[in-house]
Amino acid sequence: MGTITAAGFHVLFLIPIIALHAHASSQEAHLTEFLLSRKSRSSSGSTISDSIFHGGSVPVITNSLRTDEYPNSDRALKAADKIPVLPGQPEGVDFDQYAGYVTVDGHNGRALFYYFVEAPGDKAAKPLLLWLNGGPGCSSLGLGAMRELGPFRVNRDNQTLTRNKHAWNNEANVIFLESPAGVGFSYSNTSSDYDRMGDPLTAQDTYAFLVNWLDRYPEYKARGLYNAGESYAGHYVPQLAAAILAHNNNNNTGVMLNLKGILVGNPLLDVVKNKRGRYEYLWNHGVISDEVWADISSHCSFNGSSYGGMCDEAISKSNYTHRDLDMYNIYAPTCITSDNGSYYSSSQLPGYDPCGEVATFAYLNRPAVQRALHARETKWRGCNRIFIGFKDSPDSMVPTLKWLIDHGLPIWLFSGDFDSICPFTGTRYTVRDLKLSITEPKSRKAYCLLLVPLRSTQGVGESQDLEAPRQDELGVQLALCLTVGWMLTQVPDDVIAAC
Ligand SMILES: *[C@@H]1O[C@H](CO)[C@@H](O)[C@H](O)[C@H]1NC(C)=O
Ligand SMILES: *[C@@H]1O[C@H](CO)[C@@H](O)[C@H](O)[C@H]1NC(C)=O
Ligand SMILES: *[C@@H]1O[C@H](CO)[C@@H](O)[C@H](O)[C@H]1NC(C)=O
Ligand SMILES: *[C@@H]1O[C@H](CO)[C@@H](O)[C@H](O)[C@H]1NC(C)=O
Ligand SMILES: *[C@@H]1O[C@H](CO)[C@@H](O)[C@H](O)[C@H]1NC(C)=O
Ligand SMILES: *[C@@H]1O[C@H](CO)[C@@H](O)[C@H](O)[C@H]1NC(C)=O
Repeated sequence: MGTITAAGFHVLFLIPIIALHAHASSQEAHLTEFLLSRKSRSSSGSTISDSIFHGGSVPVITNSLRTDEYPNSDRALKAADKIPVLPGQPEGVDFDQYAGYVTVDGHNGRALFYYFVEAPGDKAAKPLLLWLNGGPGCSSLGLGAMRELGPFRVNRDNQTLTRNKHAWNNEANVIFLESPAGVGFSYSNTSSDYDRMGDPLTAQDTYAFLVNWLDRYPEYKARGLYNAGESYAGHYVPQLAAAILAHNNNNNTGVMLNLKGILVGNPLLDVVKNKRGRYEYLWNHGVISDEVWADISSHCSFNGSSYGGMCDEAISKSNYTHRDLDMYNIYAPTCITSDNGSYYSSSQLPGYDPCGEVATFAYLNRPAVQRALHARETKWRGCNRIFIGFKDSPDSMVPTLKWLIDHGLPIWLFSGDFDSICPFTGTRYTVRDLKLSITEPKSRKAYCLLLVPLRSTQGVGESQDLEAPRQDELGVQLALCLTVGWMLTQVPDDVIAAC
Protein backbone atom coordinates (compact mmCIF):
# COMPACT_ATOMS: atom_id res chain seq x y z
CA MET A 1 0.00 0.00 0.00
CA GLY A 2 3.02 2.21 -0.12
CA THR A 3 2.69 5.56 1.51
CA ILE A 4 -1.00 5.68 2.12
CA THR A 5 -1.75 6.01 5.80
CA ALA A 6 -4.20 4.05 7.86
CA ALA A 7 -6.31 7.11 8.44
CA GLY A 8 -6.06 7.92 4.77
CA PHE A 9 -7.30 4.55 3.83
CA HIS A 10 -10.29 4.86 6.03
CA VAL A 11 -11.24 8.08 4.38
CA LEU A 12 -10.66 6.80 0.90
CA PHE A 13 -12.92 3.93 1.70
CA LEU A 14 -15.76 5.74 3.35
CA ILE A 15 -15.96 8.98 1.49
CA PRO A 16 -16.98 7.49 -1.83
CA ILE A 17 -20.07 6.06 -0.26
CA ILE A 18 -20.98 9.53 0.86
CA ALA A 19 -19.90 11.21 -2.31
CA LEU A 20 -21.92 8.94 -4.54
CA HIS A 21 -25.12 10.33 -3.22
CA ALA A 22 -24.29 13.80 -4.30
CA HIS A 23 -24.47 12.45 -7.78
CA ALA A 24 -25.29 14.97 -10.36
CA SER A 25 -28.52 14.03 -12.00
CA SER A 26 -27.10 14.60 -15.46
CA GLN A 27 -24.60 11.78 -15.18
CA GLU A 28 -27.28 9.27 -14.30
CA ALA A 29 -29.68 10.39 -16.99
CA HIS A 30 -26.79 10.12 -19.39
CA LEU A 31 -25.89 6.59 -18.43
CA THR A 32 -29.53 5.50 -18.64
CA GLU A 33 -29.78 6.92 -22.12
CA PHE A 34 -26.53 5.28 -23.13
CA LEU A 35 -27.69 1.89 -21.86
CA LEU A 36 -30.98 2.23 -23.73
CA SER A 37 -29.22 3.20 -26.95
CA ARG A 38 -26.83 0.27 -26.87
CA LYS A 39 -29.71 -2.19 -26.77
CA SER A 40 -30.19 -1.66 -30.46
CA ARG A 41 -26.53 -1.98 -31.32
CA SER A 42 -24.37 -5.03 -31.37
CA SER A 43 -21.83 -5.03 -28.63
CA SER A 44 -19.06 -6.51 -30.71
CA GLY A 45 -15.94 -4.66 -31.68
CA SER A 46 -12.36 -4.88 -30.66
CA THR A 47 -11.48 -3.49 -27.31
CA ILE A 48 -8.34 -2.64 -25.48
CA SER A 49 -9.01 -5.81 -23.54
CA ASP A 50 -9.12 -7.84 -26.74
CA SER A 51 -5.82 -6.45 -27.90
CA ILE A 52 -4.26 -7.07 -24.53
CA PHE A 53 -5.73 -10.51 -24.08
CA HIS A 54 -5.01 -11.62 -27.60
CA GLY A 55 -3.00 -14.77 -27.20
CA GLY A 56 -4.04 -14.87 -23.59
CA SER A 57 -0.71 -14.19 -21.97
CA VAL A 58 1.88 -11.45 -22.29
CA PRO A 59 0.22 -8.18 -23.20
CA VAL A 60 1.54 -6.64 -26.38
CA ILE A 61 0.88 -3.02 -27.12
CA THR A 62 1.71 -1.00 -30.15
CA ASN A 63 4.88 1.06 -30.14
CA SER A 64 2.98 4.13 -31.14
CA LEU A 65 2.70 5.17 -27.53
CA ARG A 66 6.23 6.34 -26.99
CA THR A 67 6.98 9.28 -24.80
CA ASP A 68 9.30 10.90 -27.29
CA GLU A 69 6.37 11.24 -29.67
CA TYR A 70 4.32 13.14 -27.15
CA PRO A 71 4.37 16.86 -27.65
CA ASN A 72 4.11 19.33 -24.80
CA SER A 73 6.17 17.40 -22.33
CA ASP A 74 7.54 20.65 -21.12
CA ARG A 75 8.11 21.04 -17.41
CA ALA A 76 7.80 24.79 -17.65
CA LEU A 77 4.13 24.25 -18.38
CA LYS A 78 3.62 23.32 -14.75
CA ALA A 79 4.27 26.87 -13.63
CA ALA A 80 1.85 28.13 -16.25
CA ASP A 81 -0.83 25.74 -15.01
CA LYS A 82 -0.67 26.93 -11.41
CA ILE A 83 -3.91 28.57 -10.23
CA PRO A 84 -3.02 31.39 -7.85
CA VAL A 85 -6.62 31.66 -6.71
CA LEU A 86 -10.01 30.50 -8.01
CA PRO A 87 -12.67 33.22 -8.21
CA GLY A 88 -14.69 33.25 -5.00
CA GLN A 89 -12.55 30.75 -3.13
CA PRO A 90 -12.65 31.05 0.66
CA GLU A 91 -9.81 32.36 2.80
CA GLY A 92 -7.12 30.05 4.03
CA VAL A 93 -6.81 27.61 1.15
CA ASP A 94 -3.77 25.63 2.21
CA PHE A 95 -3.06 23.49 -0.86
CA ASP A 96 -1.86 24.12 -4.40
CA GLN A 97 -4.17 23.93 -7.42
CA TYR A 98 -3.29 23.53 -11.07
CA ALA A 99 -5.31 23.25 -14.26
CA GLY A 100 -4.65 23.12 -17.95
CA TYR A 101 -4.38 20.98 -21.03
CA VAL A 102 -2.25 18.00 -21.89
CA THR A 103 -2.01 17.10 -25.55
CA VAL A 104 -2.64 13.43 -26.21
CA ASP A 105 -2.54 13.50 -30.01
CA GLY A 106 -0.46 16.23 -31.57
CA HIS A 107 -1.40 15.29 -35.13
CA ASN A 108 -5.15 15.59 -34.68
CA GLY A 109 -4.88 18.30 -32.04
CA ARG A 110 -6.53 16.38 -29.22
CA ALA A 111 -6.05 17.68 -25.69
CA LEU A 112 -7.44 16.69 -22.31
CA PHE A 113 -8.24 19.17 -19.57
CA TYR A 114 -7.29 18.44 -15.97
CA TYR A 115 -7.77 20.05 -12.58
CA PHE A 116 -5.16 18.97 -10.05
CA VAL A 117 -5.37 19.58 -6.32
CA GLU A 118 -2.57 18.66 -4.01
CA ALA A 119 -3.00 17.58 -0.40
CA PRO A 120 -2.93 20.33 2.21
CA GLY A 121 -0.25 18.71 4.32
CA ASP A 122 2.56 16.26 3.69
CA LYS A 123 1.78 16.04 -0.01
CA ALA A 124 5.08 14.35 -0.76
CA ALA A 125 4.05 11.37 1.37
CA LYS A 126 0.59 11.02 -0.16
CA PRO A 127 -0.32 9.06 -3.26
CA LEU A 128 -1.47 10.36 -6.61
CA LEU A 129 -5.06 9.57 -7.53
CA LEU A 130 -6.71 9.97 -10.92
CA TRP A 131 -10.47 10.47 -10.70
CA LEU A 132 -12.84 9.75 -13.60
CA ASN A 133 -16.59 10.29 -13.83
CA GLY A 134 -18.83 8.31 -16.13
CA GLY A 135 -21.50 9.03 -18.66
CA PRO A 136 -19.89 8.27 -21.06
CA GLY A 137 -19.42 11.97 -21.64
CA CYS A 138 -19.70 13.50 -18.15
CA SER A 139 -17.21 15.82 -16.52
CA SER A 140 -14.95 14.92 -13.62
CA LEU A 141 -14.49 18.63 -12.99
CA GLY A 142 -18.11 19.76 -12.74
CA LEU A 143 -19.45 16.56 -11.20
CA GLY A 144 -16.54 14.79 -9.51
CA ALA A 145 -14.61 17.79 -8.24
CA MET A 146 -17.34 20.36 -7.66
CA ARG A 147 -20.22 18.13 -6.56
CA GLU A 148 -18.60 15.05 -5.07
CA LEU A 149 -15.05 14.66 -3.79
CA GLY A 150 -13.20 17.84 -4.70
CA PRO A 151 -12.09 20.54 -2.28
CA PHE A 152 -14.84 23.07 -3.07
CA ARG A 153 -18.60 23.42 -3.47
CA VAL A 154 -20.17 26.27 -5.44
CA ASN A 155 -22.59 28.34 -3.36
CA ARG A 156 -26.08 29.31 -4.49
CA ASP A 157 -24.82 32.75 -5.55
CA ASN A 158 -23.00 31.05 -8.49
CA GLN A 159 -19.89 33.00 -7.51
CA THR A 160 -18.35 31.86 -4.26
CA LEU A 161 -16.98 28.56 -3.02
CA THR A 162 -16.92 26.77 0.31
CA ARG A 163 -14.59 23.99 1.42
CA ASN A 164 -15.78 20.40 1.30
CA LYS A 165 -14.68 18.80 4.54
CA HIS A 166 -14.61 15.33 3.03
CA ALA A 167 -12.48 16.21 0.04
CA TRP A 168 -10.29 13.35 -1.12
CA ASN A 169 -7.32 15.66 -1.48
CA ASN A 170 -7.12 15.57 2.31
CA GLU A 171 -5.54 12.17 1.78
CA ALA A 172 -4.21 12.12 -1.77
CA ASN A 173 -3.03 14.40 -4.54
CA VAL A 174 -6.01 14.22 -6.89
CA ILE A 175 -6.21 14.75 -10.65
CA PHE A 176 -9.72 15.32 -12.02
CA LEU A 177 -9.54 14.54 -15.72
CA GLU A 178 -12.20 15.58 -18.22
CA SER A 179 -12.18 12.51 -20.41
CA PRO A 180 -12.49 11.61 -23.22
CA ALA A 181 -11.85 14.53 -25.59
CA GLY A 182 -15.22 16.21 -26.10
CA VAL A 183 -16.09 16.24 -22.40
CA GLY A 184 -16.13 19.58 -20.59
CA PHE A 185 -13.11 21.65 -21.64
CA SER A 186 -11.34 18.72 -23.33
CA TYR A 187 -11.44 18.87 -27.11
CA SER A 188 -10.12 17.73 -30.43
CA ASN A 189 -9.35 19.96 -33.40
CA THR A 190 -10.36 17.00 -35.59
CA SER A 191 -14.08 16.65 -35.04
CA SER A 192 -14.18 13.15 -36.54
CA ASP A 193 -12.29 12.05 -33.41
CA TYR A 194 -15.57 12.33 -31.55
CA ASP A 195 -17.21 9.81 -33.88
CA ARG A 196 -14.59 7.17 -33.26
CA MET A 197 -14.44 7.73 -29.52
CA GLY A 198 -14.94 4.62 -27.42
CA ASP A 199 -13.38 2.59 -24.64
CA PRO A 200 -10.07 1.71 -26.40
CA LEU A 201 -9.31 5.24 -27.57
CA THR A 202 -10.30 6.59 -24.15
CA ALA A 203 -7.87 4.22 -22.42
CA GLN A 204 -5.12 5.07 -24.90
CA ASP A 205 -5.65 8.83 -24.52
CA THR A 206 -5.81 8.61 -20.74
CA TYR A 207 -2.58 6.65 -20.73
CA ALA A 208 -0.94 9.24 -22.96
CA PHE A 209 -2.28 11.94 -20.65
CA LEU A 210 -0.69 10.32 -17.61
CA VAL A 211 2.69 9.90 -19.28
CA ASN A 212 2.75 13.49 -20.49
CA TRP A 213 1.35 14.86 -17.25
CA LEU A 214 4.12 13.11 -15.31
CA ASP A 215 6.68 14.81 -17.55
CA ARG A 216 5.17 18.08 -16.41
CA TYR A 217 5.11 16.99 -12.75
CA PRO A 218 8.22 14.81 -12.52
CA GLU A 219 8.12 14.76 -8.71
CA TYR A 220 5.12 12.41 -9.08
CA LYS A 221 6.78 9.93 -11.46
CA ALA A 222 7.66 7.40 -8.80
CA ARG A 223 4.66 8.12 -6.60
CA GLY A 224 2.09 5.41 -5.97
CA LEU A 225 -0.78 5.92 -8.43
CA TYR A 226 -4.41 4.95 -7.89
CA ASN A 227 -7.08 5.09 -10.59
CA ALA A 228 -10.57 5.68 -9.31
CA GLY A 229 -14.01 6.49 -10.62
CA GLU A 230 -17.68 5.68 -10.60
CA SER A 231 -20.57 4.72 -12.83
CA TYR A 232 -19.39 4.30 -16.45
CA ALA A 233 -15.83 4.74 -15.16
CA GLY A 234 -16.37 1.12 -14.10
CA HIS A 235 -15.40 0.63 -17.74
CA TYR A 236 -12.70 3.28 -17.99
CA VAL A 237 -10.76 2.46 -14.85
CA PRO A 238 -10.09 -1.29 -15.35
CA GLN A 239 -9.24 -0.77 -19.02
CA LEU A 240 -6.86 2.05 -18.20
CA ALA A 241 -5.23 -0.14 -15.55
CA ALA A 242 -4.82 -2.93 -18.14
CA ALA A 243 -3.23 -0.47 -20.55
CA ILE A 244 -0.84 0.74 -17.86
CA LEU A 245 0.23 -2.77 -16.85
CA ALA A 246 0.60 -3.75 -20.49
CA HIS A 247 2.83 -0.76 -21.17
CA ASN A 248 4.83 -1.37 -18.01
CA ASN A 249 5.58 -4.84 -19.40
CA ASN A 250 6.53 -3.53 -22.78
CA ASN A 251 10.27 -3.05 -23.00
CA ASN A 252 10.03 -0.67 -25.92
CA THR A 253 8.49 2.33 -24.28
CA GLY A 254 10.79 2.76 -21.31
CA VAL A 255 7.84 4.15 -19.36
CA MET A 256 6.83 2.70 -16.04
CA LEU A 257 3.84 3.96 -14.10
CA ASN A 258 3.73 3.01 -10.44
CA LEU A 259 0.13 1.79 -10.44
CA LYS A 260 -0.80 0.62 -6.95
CA GLY A 261 -4.45 -0.18 -7.34
CA ILE A 262 -7.87 0.78 -8.65
CA LEU A 263 -11.07 1.77 -6.87
CA VAL A 264 -14.51 1.96 -8.47
CA GLY A 265 -17.77 2.93 -6.81
CA ASN A 266 -21.25 1.96 -8.01
CA PRO A 267 -19.53 0.96 -11.21
CA LEU A 268 -21.03 -0.22 -14.47
CA LEU A 269 -19.03 -3.42 -14.77
CA ASP A 270 -21.39 -5.73 -16.58
CA VAL A 271 -24.39 -4.53 -18.53
CA VAL A 272 -26.44 -7.71 -18.09
CA LYS A 273 -25.72 -8.20 -14.42
CA ASN A 274 -26.25 -4.52 -13.79
CA LYS A 275 -29.66 -4.78 -15.39
CA ARG A 276 -30.57 -7.86 -13.44
CA GLY A 277 -29.43 -6.16 -10.25
CA ARG A 278 -31.37 -3.04 -11.09
CA TYR A 279 -34.81 -4.60 -11.39
CA GLU A 280 -34.25 -6.73 -8.36
CA TYR A 281 -33.21 -3.60 -6.49
CA LEU A 282 -36.23 -1.63 -7.69
CA TRP A 283 -38.54 -4.38 -6.52
CA ASN A 284 -37.00 -4.99 -3.14
CA HIS A 285 -36.79 -1.25 -2.50
CA GLY A 286 -40.49 -0.84 -3.24
CA VAL A 287 -40.12 1.17 -6.43
CA ILE A 288 -41.84 -1.29 -8.79
CA SER A 289 -44.87 -3.43 -8.04
CA ASP A 290 -45.08 -7.17 -7.46
CA GLU A 291 -46.85 -7.55 -10.81
CA VAL A 292 -44.16 -5.74 -12.80
CA TRP A 293 -41.43 -7.67 -11.01
CA ALA A 294 -43.21 -11.02 -11.59
CA ASP A 295 -43.47 -10.16 -15.27
CA ILE A 296 -39.79 -9.26 -15.51
CA SER A 297 -38.60 -12.29 -13.60
CA SER A 298 -40.63 -14.67 -15.75
CA HIS A 299 -39.55 -13.17 -19.09
CA CYS A 300 -35.98 -12.05 -18.56
CA SER A 301 -33.22 -14.57 -18.07
CA PHE A 302 -30.43 -11.96 -17.70
CA ASN A 303 -27.91 -14.54 -18.78
CA GLY A 304 -26.98 -13.15 -22.17
CA SER A 305 -26.86 -9.84 -23.96
CA SER A 306 -30.15 -10.33 -25.78
CA TYR A 307 -33.26 -10.06 -23.69
CA GLY A 308 -36.04 -10.89 -26.14
CA GLY A 309 -39.30 -9.12 -26.92
CA MET A 310 -41.27 -10.34 -23.91
CA CYS A 311 -38.49 -9.24 -21.59
CA ASP A 312 -38.21 -5.82 -23.19
CA GLU A 313 -41.94 -5.38 -22.88
CA ALA A 314 -41.94 -6.38 -19.23
CA ILE A 315 -39.10 -3.97 -18.55
CA SER A 316 -40.80 -1.11 -20.35
CA LYS A 317 -43.67 -1.38 -17.84
CA SER A 318 -41.22 -0.69 -15.06
CA ASN A 319 -40.64 2.87 -16.21
CA TYR A 320 -40.18 4.48 -12.87
CA THR A 321 -39.00 7.85 -14.14
CA HIS A 322 -40.74 10.37 -11.97
CA ARG A 323 -39.82 13.92 -11.31
CA ASP A 324 -39.72 13.30 -7.57
CA LEU A 325 -37.40 10.32 -7.82
CA ASP A 326 -33.66 10.71 -8.19
CA MET A 327 -32.68 7.41 -9.75
CA TYR A 328 -29.15 7.72 -8.39
CA ASN A 329 -30.39 8.17 -4.86
CA ILE A 330 -33.94 6.96 -4.51
CA TYR A 331 -34.26 8.57 -1.07
CA ALA A 332 -33.09 12.06 -1.99
CA PRO A 333 -35.19 15.04 -3.05
CA THR A 334 -34.82 16.19 -6.66
CA CYS A 335 -34.48 19.58 -8.26
CA ILE A 336 -37.70 20.81 -9.85
CA THR A 337 -37.73 23.51 -12.48
CA SER A 338 -41.00 25.42 -12.59
CA ASP A 339 -42.56 26.93 -15.70
CA ASN A 340 -41.30 30.39 -14.84
CA GLY A 341 -37.73 29.12 -14.76
CA SER A 342 -37.21 29.12 -11.02
CA TYR A 343 -36.09 25.91 -9.38
CA TYR A 344 -36.51 24.36 -6.00
CA SER A 345 -35.99 21.12 -4.06
CA SER A 346 -38.88 18.65 -4.25
CA SER A 347 -38.72 18.22 -0.48
CA GLN A 348 -36.51 19.33 2.37
CA LEU A 349 -33.55 17.35 3.53
CA PRO A 350 -31.41 19.47 5.84
CA GLY A 351 -27.95 20.09 4.52
CA TYR A 352 -28.60 18.83 1.00
CA ASP A 353 -29.36 20.88 -2.10
CA PRO A 354 -30.36 18.83 -5.13
CA CYS A 355 -30.23 22.01 -7.22
CA GLY A 356 -26.52 22.49 -6.52
CA GLU A 357 -25.72 21.52 -10.09
CA VAL A 358 -27.27 24.75 -11.36
CA ALA A 359 -24.84 26.95 -9.43
CA THR A 360 -21.88 24.73 -10.30
CA PHE A 361 -22.59 24.87 -14.00
CA ALA A 362 -23.16 28.63 -13.88
CA TYR A 363 -19.83 29.05 -12.06
CA LEU A 364 -17.87 27.01 -14.59
CA ASN A 365 -19.33 29.08 -17.41
CA ARG A 366 -18.18 32.38 -15.98
CA PRO A 367 -15.40 33.82 -18.16
CA ALA A 368 -13.31 34.77 -15.10
CA VAL A 369 -13.49 31.19 -13.86
CA GLN A 370 -12.58 29.74 -17.24
CA ARG A 371 -9.60 32.09 -17.41
CA ALA A 372 -8.49 31.17 -13.89
CA LEU A 373 -8.66 27.50 -14.88
CA HIS A 374 -6.58 28.16 -18.03
CA ALA A 375 -9.43 26.70 -20.05
CA ARG A 376 -10.43 27.71 -23.54
CA GLU A 377 -13.43 29.99 -23.35
CA THR A 378 -16.32 27.80 -24.27
CA LYS A 379 -19.84 26.80 -23.34
CA TRP A 380 -19.00 24.24 -20.69
CA ARG A 381 -21.49 21.40 -20.11
CA GLY A 382 -21.69 18.77 -17.39
CA CYS A 383 -22.35 15.98 -19.87
CA ASN A 384 -21.89 15.94 -23.62
CA ARG A 385 -24.48 13.98 -25.55
CA ILE A 386 -22.17 13.22 -28.47
CA PHE A 387 -21.08 9.98 -26.80
CA ILE A 388 -24.42 8.22 -26.71
CA GLY A 389 -23.08 6.03 -29.51
CA PHE A 390 -19.82 5.29 -27.68
CA LYS A 391 -17.77 2.67 -29.53
CA ASP A 392 -16.33 -0.64 -28.46
CA SER A 393 -17.90 -0.73 -25.07
CA PRO A 394 -17.72 -4.37 -23.96
CA ASP A 395 -20.73 -5.76 -22.12
CA SER A 396 -18.58 -7.03 -19.31
CA MET A 397 -15.44 -6.01 -17.49
CA VAL A 398 -15.18 -9.44 -15.88
CA PRO A 399 -12.39 -10.66 -18.22
CA THR A 400 -10.49 -7.42 -17.68
CA LEU A 401 -10.88 -7.60 -13.91
CA LYS A 402 -9.75 -11.22 -13.95
CA TRP A 403 -6.71 -10.30 -15.97
CA LEU A 404 -5.87 -7.51 -13.54
CA ILE A 405 -6.31 -9.86 -10.58
CA ASP A 406 -4.05 -12.41 -12.27
CA HIS A 407 -1.47 -9.67 -12.61
CA GLY A 408 -1.65 -8.91 -8.92
CA LEU A 409 -3.35 -5.54 -9.10
CA PRO A 410 -5.31 -4.59 -5.96
CA ILE A 411 -8.93 -3.81 -6.76
CA TRP A 412 -11.60 -2.27 -4.57
CA LEU A 413 -15.22 -2.37 -5.63
CA PHE A 414 -17.59 -0.45 -3.40
CA SER A 415 -21.25 0.26 -3.88
CA GLY A 416 -23.69 2.34 -1.91
CA ASP A 417 -27.28 1.20 -1.49
CA PHE A 418 -29.20 4.26 -2.74
CA ASP A 419 -28.34 4.02 -6.41
CA SER A 420 -30.79 2.26 -8.73
CA ILE A 421 -28.79 2.85 -11.91
CA CYS A 422 -25.61 1.02 -10.94
CA PRO A 423 -26.99 -0.76 -7.87
CA PHE A 424 -24.95 -2.76 -5.38
CA THR A 425 -26.93 -5.85 -6.40
CA GLY A 426 -25.37 -5.65 -9.87
CA THR A 427 -21.89 -5.23 -8.40
CA ARG A 428 -22.55 -8.30 -6.29
CA TYR A 429 -23.47 -10.45 -9.31
CA THR A 430 -20.33 -9.30 -11.07
CA VAL A 431 -18.23 -10.20 -8.07
CA ARG A 432 -19.80 -13.65 -8.18
CA ASP A 433 -18.89 -13.96 -11.86
CA LEU A 434 -15.26 -13.38 -10.97
CA LYS A 435 -15.41 -16.82 -9.31
CA LEU A 436 -12.82 -15.89 -6.74
CA SER A 437 -12.00 -18.25 -3.98
CA ILE A 438 -12.80 -16.79 -0.62
CA THR A 439 -9.75 -16.67 1.54
CA GLU A 440 -10.07 -16.55 5.27
CA PRO A 441 -6.71 -15.88 6.79
CA LYS A 442 -7.33 -16.17 10.52
CA SER A 443 -10.77 -14.75 11.11
CA ARG A 444 -10.60 -12.10 8.43
CA LYS A 445 -12.45 -12.42 5.18
CA ALA A 446 -11.18 -11.10 1.91
CA TYR A 447 -14.72 -10.80 0.69
CA CYS A 448 -17.01 -8.96 3.01
CA LEU A 449 -20.36 -7.28 3.14
CA LEU A 450 -20.18 -4.12 5.14
CA LEU A 451 -22.83 -2.32 7.04
CA VAL A 452 -21.28 1.03 7.64
CA PRO A 453 -23.18 3.43 9.84
CA LEU A 454 -21.97 6.83 8.81
CA ARG A 455 -21.68 9.41 11.50
CA SER A 456 -22.87 12.92 11.11
CA THR A 457 -20.09 15.21 12.18
CA GLN A 458 -22.09 18.36 12.50
CA GLY A 459 -25.50 19.71 13.29
CA VAL A 460 -28.35 20.56 11.01
CA GLY A 461 -28.19 24.02 9.52
CA GLU A 462 -24.53 24.13 8.70
CA SER A 463 -24.57 24.17 4.97
CA GLN A 464 -21.02 23.12 4.33
CA ASP A 465 -21.08 19.45 5.08
CA LEU A 466 -23.60 18.59 2.47
CA GLU A 467 -23.81 14.86 2.52
CA ALA A 468 -22.95 13.67 5.98
CA PRO A 469 -26.17 14.64 7.75
CA ARG A 470 -28.20 12.72 5.23
CA GLN A 471 -26.63 9.49 6.24
CA ASP A 472 -27.93 9.76 9.76
CA GLU A 473 -31.38 10.66 8.64
CA LEU A 474 -31.56 7.84 6.24
CA GLY A 475 -29.92 5.06 8.18
CA VAL A 476 -27.10 2.78 7.30
CA GLN A 477 -25.30 2.34 4.02
CA LEU A 478 -24.67 -1.04 2.59
CA ALA A 479 -21.37 -1.36 0.88
CA LEU A 480 -20.06 -4.31 -0.97
CA CYS A 481 -16.37 -4.48 -0.50
CA LEU A 482 -14.05 -6.77 -2.25
CA THR A 483 -10.42 -6.85 -1.44
CA VAL A 484 -8.39 -8.61 -4.04
CA GLY A 485 -4.67 -8.70 -3.88
CA TRP A 486 -4.29 -6.44 -0.88
CA MET A 487 -2.12 -7.99 1.70
CA LEU A 488 -4.71 -8.18 4.38
CA THR A 489 -2.22 -7.48 7.09
CA GLN A 490 -1.72 -4.08 5.54
CA VAL A 491 -5.37 -3.15 5.56
CA PRO A 492 -5.80 -0.87 8.53
CA ASP A 493 -7.66 -2.25 11.51
CA ASP A 494 -10.35 0.36 11.53
CA VAL A 495 -11.52 -0.76 8.11
CA ILE A 496 -11.45 -4.43 9.00
CA ALA A 497 -13.28 -3.69 12.23
CA ALA A 498 -16.14 -2.29 10.23
CA CYS A 499 -16.56 -5.55 8.33
C1 LIG B 1 -6.14 23.32 -31.83
O1 LIG B 1 -6.20 24.41 -32.73
C2 LIG B 1 -5.93 25.67 -32.13
C3 LIG B 1 -6.15 26.74 -33.20
O2 LIG B 1 -5.37 26.46 -34.30
C4 LIG B 1 -4.52 25.68 -31.59
O3 LIG B 1 -4.25 26.91 -30.94
C5 LIG B 1 -4.37 24.57 -30.58
O4 LIG B 1 -3.05 24.47 -30.12
C6 LIG B 1 -4.76 23.23 -31.20
N1 LIG B 1 -4.77 22.20 -30.18
C7 LIG B 1 -3.92 21.17 -30.16
C8 LIG B 1 -4.06 20.21 -29.02
O5 LIG B 1 -3.10 20.97 -31.01
C1 LIG C 1 -27.30 31.23 -10.97
O1 LIG C 1 -27.33 30.72 -12.27
C2 LIG C 1 -28.59 30.23 -12.65
C3 LIG C 1 -28.45 29.56 -14.00
O2 LIG C 1 -27.88 30.42 -14.91
C4 LIG C 1 -29.61 31.35 -12.64
O3 LIG C 1 -30.89 30.86 -12.99
C5 LIG C 1 -29.66 31.96 -11.25
O4 LIG C 1 -30.52 33.07 -11.25
C6 LIG C 1 -28.27 32.38 -10.82
N1 LIG C 1 -28.32 32.78 -9.43
C7 LIG C 1 -27.89 33.96 -9.02
C8 LIG C 1 -27.99 34.24 -7.55
O5 LIG C 1 -27.43 34.79 -9.80
C1 LIG D 1 11.80 -7.50 -21.68
O1 LIG D 1 13.18 -7.72 -21.64
C2 LIG D 1 13.60 -8.79 -20.78
C3 LIG D 1 15.12 -8.82 -20.69
O2 LIG D 1 15.67 -8.53 -21.95
C4 LIG D 1 12.99 -10.09 -21.28
O3 LIG D 1 13.35 -11.16 -20.43
C5 LIG D 1 11.48 -9.96 -21.31
O4 LIG D 1 10.88 -11.10 -21.85
C6 LIG D 1 11.05 -8.75 -22.14
N1 LIG D 1 9.61 -8.56 -21.98
C7 LIG D 1 8.81 -8.33 -23.00
C8 LIG D 1 7.33 -8.14 -22.67
O5 LIG D 1 9.19 -8.26 -24.14
C1 LIG E 1 -30.68 -18.46 -20.16
O1 LIG E 1 -31.64 -18.89 -19.22
C2 LIG E 1 -32.74 -19.56 -19.81
C3 LIG E 1 -33.78 -19.79 -18.72
O2 LIG E 1 -33.16 -20.14 -17.51
C4 LIG E 1 -32.25 -20.84 -20.47
O3 LIG E 1 -33.33 -21.51 -21.08
C5 LIG E 1 -31.21 -20.47 -21.53
O4 LIG E 1 -30.65 -21.63 -22.10
C6 LIG E 1 -30.09 -19.62 -20.91
N1 LIG E 1 -29.23 -19.13 -21.97
C7 LIG E 1 -27.92 -19.13 -21.85
C8 LIG E 1 -27.16 -18.52 -22.99
O5 LIG E 1 -27.34 -19.54 -20.86
C1 LIG F 1 -40.88 6.81 -19.03
O1 LIG F 1 -41.88 7.73 -18.65
C2 LIG F 1 -41.56 9.10 -18.91
C3 LIG F 1 -42.62 9.97 -18.28
O2 LIG F 1 -43.90 9.49 -18.58
C4 LIG F 1 -41.41 9.27 -20.42
O3 LIG F 1 -41.07 10.59 -20.72
C5 LIG F 1 -40.30 8.34 -20.91
O4 LIG F 1 -40.17 8.42 -22.30
C6 LIG F 1 -40.57 6.91 -20.51
N1 LIG F 1 -39.37 6.11 -20.80
C7 LIG F 1 -39.46 4.90 -21.35
C8 LIG F 1 -38.14 4.20 -21.57
O5 LIG F 1 -40.50 4.37 -21.68
C1 LIG G 1 -42.27 30.65 -10.05
O1 LIG G 1 -43.06 29.50 -9.77
C2 LIG G 1 -42.91 29.00 -8.46
C3 LIG G 1 -43.66 27.69 -8.35
O2 LIG G 1 -44.75 27.66 -9.18
C4 LIG G 1 -43.39 30.04 -7.45
O3 LIG G 1 -43.27 29.55 -6.14
C5 LIG G 1 -42.55 31.29 -7.62
O4 LIG G 1 -43.03 32.31 -6.77
C6 LIG G 1 -42.58 31.78 -9.07
N1 LIG G 1 -41.59 32.84 -9.20
C7 LIG G 1 -41.85 33.95 -9.87
C8 LIG G 1 -40.73 34.96 -9.94
O5 LIG G 1 -42.91 34.16 -10.41
